[in-house]
This record gives sequence, C-alpha cells and structure tokens, in this order.
Amino acid sequence: MSSFPIRRMRRLRRTPALRRLVQETHLVPSQLVWPLFVAHGEGVRREVNLLPGVFQTSVDEAVQDAERARRLGLGGVILFGLPAAKDGTGSEAHDEQGIVQQAIRAIKRAAPDLLVLGDVCLCEYTDHGHCGVIVDGEVDNDSTVYLLGKIAVIQARAGVDVVAPSDMMDGRVAAIRKALDAAGFARVPIMSYAAKMASAFYGPFREAAGSTPQFGDRQAYQMQGTNADEAMKEIRLDVEEGADIVLVKPALPCLDLIRRAKEEFGAPLAAFQVSGEYAMIKAAAARGMVDEATAMWETVYAIRRAGADIILSYFAPTLAESL
Ligand code: PBG
Ligand code: ZN
Repeated sequence: MSSFPIRRMRRLRRTPALRRLVQETHLVPSQLVWPLFVAHGEGVRREVNLLPGVFQTSVDEAVQDAERARRLGLGGVILFGLPAAKDGTGSEAHDEQGIVQQAIRAIKRAAPDLLVLGDVCLCEYTDHGHCGVIVDGEVDNDSTVYLLGKIAVIQARAGVDVVAPSDMMDGRVAAIRKALDAAGFARVPIMSYAAKMASAFYGPFREAAGSTPQFGDRQAYQMQGTNADEAMKEIRLDVEEGADIVLVKPALPCLDLIRRAKEEFGAPLAAFQVSGEYAMIKAAAARGMVDEATAMWETVYAIRRAGADIILSYFAPTLAESL
C-alpha cells in the first residue's frame, strides 16, 4: 500500500455521494424488531415515563402499531405482556386468554404477513417479579423450565411465529423445543436470549413491563458482564439445545461478544439494544447533550458492524422511517 501523498484517505470522504459509495455497513428494515408492551383494556395508549416514545397499549392499539410495523417493512414485533393479575407462578403467561395470547391472535388476524415474536418469561407475570418460580427463597430452575415450555406452546397455539425465551434458566431451550414438538409445533423457531448479562440497562424496561424484582436481583441467573468465555459457552449450549437464532444483550456494552459470537457460530445472531441504551440517548438528547438522530444511527450501526444480523430496538420504527 502506497502512502502519503499518493494515499489520501480524505479523498473518499469529501462528499455525501462518495461516502455513500464506500459505506461498509448497511441496515434494512427487515433486520429490525420492535418491542411492544400489551395491556388489558381498550383504547389504552400510555407513554412509559422512563421511555419517551414507548407506550403500553391495549390489544386494539397494539394492532395499529403492528400495522405500522408492517407498512415500514420491519422484521417483526416482539410482544411483552402486562397481566391483569400477578401470582407466584405467573399464571396469565400460560393462559389461553392471557394478554399476549390475545395480542398474537389479533395481530396475526390484522397483519398476517408481519412476523410476531413472543417473549417467553415469567417476570412480568409473577407477583415477586423474578423470571422463575421461587422455591426456598431461590429461583428454581427445573420447575420454571417446565412452565416456560407451557408458555411457548400456548403462544404457538395463538399463532406466534417465533418464541423468544429471555429467562436464562438452564436447559430451557431443549425443554421448549421438546414441548413445542410434542404439541405439533415443530415448525416454530426459537430465538433464545443466549447471552444475557445482569445489566443496569434493563431499568426502564422494568417500569414498562412492571417486572422489577420485589426482593434481591437477577444475578443468580443472568450472566456476569465480566465473562466473555462463559457467554460463548451459553450460546454454544443454546445452539446445541436447538436454538434457531441466538441473542446477545445488552448490545452496546457487549459489542465484543456480538463479534465473537458472529465468528464462532453459524446461527443467525440478534442483539437487543435495551431500554436503558435507548433511554440514555433520549435523556441526553432532551438535555441538549447529544444529537438524538446521530446518536441513534451511530449506536445501531455499531451493533450491526460488530456482527448482529437482527437488532431489537425501541428505535425500530424511527430508523425504518428514514431508511
Ligand atoms: C426479562 C426481560 C428483560 C428484558 C427483556 N426481557 C429484562 C430483565 O431481565 O429484567 C430487557 C429489555 C429491555 O431492557 O429493553 N425476562
Ligand atoms: Zn424475565
């Protein structure tokens, strides 16, 4: 490679047209998945305090959002539910009439071509806010896994296109695969939150989903952010158990894991730009500290550049509108 003055790197940066020609990383709407929060009632559209531009909606309003997602060509929507009542085993999560099951049916009826993903977890539905059943003061792995299988089957019966377990129990991908296959849903793929760190950046989500743990924290099941080899092991186990898509989260603090996972595994790779990552940009922009659009594009392209094929983001519709 020749050097200066023959080589001038700025030559290809001079105009927008030149910069566009040599852009290495691209994003299309079909790579974006939009998280939606569904609540009981009708005509409900409540903005989440900590997440400007994110709403808890009733099913009829969620259908409107889903139709918008379809018009924008988004990859899909992922549904989180706000139950009418919470209890020790998160009953509404595995009830035919549960809020997410109602939303799945309504959205698939209104927009059959739109991909609908279902978050499979208990934390939004349990009175203690943990992602599993409590036995002797601890989140019990195996009884939780049994319930996760039930949730996946109930969602599949409602017509969900992909189930997405986010609980971080051991063996849940295998159990969900077995439960789905036994119920006649061998065709339904699993997107597993394979490497999910115990992160401060889920804070605003817990307000949106009403899922803050009522005691303790999630460090006994979610991963330590310090451990990259362990993250690869988690992903490998999920792939071996039958995960079709693996997900890393949060996204920006885990760009190295996204890159490693992309290089080590053949599976389609998703990354979740989580609520805190979104809220930070919104809050800083509201105070004039950063330009919102520039920060949004910079972070999302960084996640793509690291190797994510699919990005879950609250910015999904905003991004798609200007693509
Ligand atoms: C819980 C779950 C969480 C998110 C998705 N599913 C957070 C948590 O562990 O409390 C985070 C999403 C976000 O912060 O946007 N199973
Ligand atoms: Zn959970």
